[in-house]
Amino acid sequence: MEEKNKETSMSRLKIILRLFKMVKPVRKVMLFAIFFGTLNHLSNIAVLTWGAWLVSSFLIPGAIPPGTFAISLLFIFGILKGVSAYVEQLANHEVAFRLLAHLRTSFYKEIEPLVPAKLLDKRSGDVISRIGGDIEIIEVFFAHTISPVAIAFTVSVSVLIFLGMFWWVLPLVVLPFQIVLGILVPVFWERYVRKNGQKLRAALGDTNAYLTDSLQGIETILLFNQGKNRRDEIGRKGDYLNSIKRGHSSRQGWLFGFVNGTILLANIATIVVAVYGYLGNHIDMQGLIVVTASSISAFVPLFSVAVVSHYLSESFASAERLFKMIDEKPAVVDAPDATPDLPKDFDITFKNVSFAYKQNGSKVLDNFSLYIPQGKSIALVGESGSGKSTVLRLLMRFWDFNEGEILIGNRNIKKICQKSIYDITALVAQDSHLFDATIKENIAIGKPDATMDEIIQSAKQANIHEFILTLPKGYETSIGELGDKLSGGERQRIVISRVLLKNPQILIFDEPTSNLDSFNENAIQETLNKISRDRTVIIVTHRLSLLANVDKAYRLQEGKLSDFEIPKAARKTASASA
Ligand SMILES: Nc1ncnc2c1ncn2[C@@H]1O[C@H](COP(=O)(O)OP(=O)(O)O)[C@@H](O)[C@H]1O
Ligand SMILES: [Mg+2]
Repeated sequence: MEEKNKETSMSRLKIILRLFKMVKPVRKVMLFAIFFGTLNHLSNIAVLTWGAWLVSSFLIPGAIPPGTFAISLLFIFGILKGVSAYVEQLANHEVAFRLLAHLRTSFYKEIEPLVPAKLLDKRSGDVISRIGGDIEIIEVFFAHTISPVAIAFTVSVSVLIFLGMFWWVLPLVVLPFQIVLGILVPVFWERYVRKNGQKLRAALGDTNAYLTDSLQGIETILLFNQGKNRRDEIGRKGDYLNSIKRGHSSRQGWLFGFVNGTILLANIATIVVAVYGYLGNHIDMQGLIVVTASSISAFVPLFSVAVVSHYLSESFASAERLFKMIDEKPAVVDAPDATPDLPKDFDITFKNVSFAYKQNGSKVLDNFSLYIPQGKSIALVGESGSGKSTVLRLLMRFWDFNEGEILIGNRNIKKICQKSIYDITALVAQDSHLFDATIKENIAIGKPDATMDEIIQSAKQANIHEFILTLPKGYETSIGELGDKLSGGERQRIVISRVLLKNPQILIFDEPTSNLDSFNENAIQETLNKISRDRTVIIVTHRLSLLANVDKAYRLQEGKLSDFEIPKAARKTASASA
């Protein structure tokens, strides 16, 4: 059982160490929070203990009544408690906010290289749920574990020393309870609820992913009259989630009960032993009162440590899911001898490239060779699934390949950093993403410092400038505001403006008009004619009209390439419309 567990899940220690590495940037604030947290708890104990001492010195016959300084000390402890509680809260929130921001950025950074090859097969909702929800949960580990543990440790040791000053037996009574609450309960309880915590996180991730997926596909669901089925399934997933949650909460009840009971037991034991010490003349009356008061408040910080173990299993489960995701190897890593230098020329050569997605899988490309001279445009046609997109993916280094070579300007692309490849190429796919930002920002994504003139220039080239001017706020209109009002062709032309502004030497189109009607297709075709000059262009398409202006066309079939004669009709239409 243990063995099996080891295979599928990472060890706690490994997760904790990795999490610790991530907190480096907030370590100082965290120490600050721990210092004031300790001060807060110690002042709390001091108020109670000192208060009890003051009262006792009035009550006990023969005791020396406290002076003004002794009494004002109580107020000082009180003020100290208030101030340190405030600063602790402040510092804790600072830690939490900075950590959340830091965790988000660092996970995002780790995920980037996995795109586009690896994340394609993960449901996007699942990824969203992981990055969002899991990070919030992991924060529990940092905000509610590290400092409470440190505070509880310091406070507990102080209490032991303090009690020892009255009678050496007292620390021996308190210590076992401290060990139970601070070490045994957290460790064993985390183990006990671990499976449930993992199940809870998984179910939550699954439910959220399903919900996101359903929202994204709501149109399809409605059109196929599947609303009720989807609703039922969402309900079922919700019920399942609730049943796990219920179990988790009921266990939490048991934990709280046990911890509170143990603390009470510890208090009773301390009092009983202290009374025994008083009767045996080891402690005086005043000592008895002070010891009783201090031992009652001494366990407060241990309470938080004991109960946090219940949520810790969820934190670890979340951390494990995220780590597993970022541990996936990217499909392509830069070779050690790859350089960022850009090629000088931009002709493209595929030399005997063979490629299969899986080892021993069927070959998508078999001894594939192709030469595209710089500044020329070629078209690639072929049946769906014949491997056209694969050719583009290999060229853009989305996937790695073992047999054959691809050269750009006589340089092997494996010797060029991926970043540089992205600099010199741009892809317009069937549907590229428009961000929820203004049109201007969407166009300027590849060149954030572009001037308005440059943005307008590229929009004009993409035949979309006039349209943008008709929008309520022109270039400042936000995509979210427009919602579904943008047609596929308009979206596509905004994407093309983006690509043109970036002005790469190699332009790649993967069925850019396959979702468009003929009106929009003509607009795109015109755009293509204008922008293809002086660039190396590859167009993958089914549409004859897009073949009109390419220099050469090829057909891809069973991994091999053959010349494709462009029908005369296509050329004619082009010259008529030009
Ligand atoms: N990520 C992938 N993993 C495994 N097989 C894939 C992957 N992507 C595409 N394929 C397969 O490779 C073949 C070629 O796909 P693709 O290049 O997308 O074709 P096309 O663009 O010509 O329609 C298809 O059989 C497809 O199922
Ligand atoms: Mg394709």
